[in-house]
Amino acid sequence: MDDRPADFPPDLLSPGAGDAPFRRLIAVAELPPGGLRRATVGDLDVLLARTPGGIVAIDDRCPHMAAPLSIGELDGCVVACPLHTGRFDLCTGEPVQMPTTGGIDPDGRYHAVWSPPGSSPKEDPPGKKAEARRLTRIRRLRYYPVRIVDGWVEAALPSP
Ligand code: FES
Repeated sequence: MDDRPADFPPDLLSPGAGDAPFRRLIAVAELPPGGLRRATVGDLDVLLARTPGGIVAIDDRCPHMAAPLSIGELDGCVVACPLHTGRFDLCTGEPVQMPTTGGIDPDGRYHAVWSPPGSSPKEDPPGKKAEARRLTRIRRLRYYPVRIVDGWVEAALPSP
């Protein structure tokens, strides 16, 4: 069943969410299997996703450069960012495909700018742009605890 909260890695709990109050966000019926929705509370934009492993709530910000993942595509547990082809596994919290801009993954490893298979790697011209790419960090996803109450999805969110 995917209409229950998904487990997520405990070390990826969003700061301040551990003892935060649960807030009602959307009806479960508004989140079909494979669905992505944004819910906004104050200035906090939350992505709700109904994966095969259950419903997850994370910030609606790509861990690369903050694009809204809610307008991306969900394939199983993997959400594809609409901006740079980054792909992130919502069931494990891990990047699946680095963004085309390259950058530093959550483990601190540098990834070059992506280039199509069979083509030679793209050269980064020297300068601030290349330096910015090298220093761009792909952060881990951060999760909010989810519960289902009377057909509603609720998430524990820090006060806005
Ligand atoms: S903002 Fe999502 S991959 Fe760059």
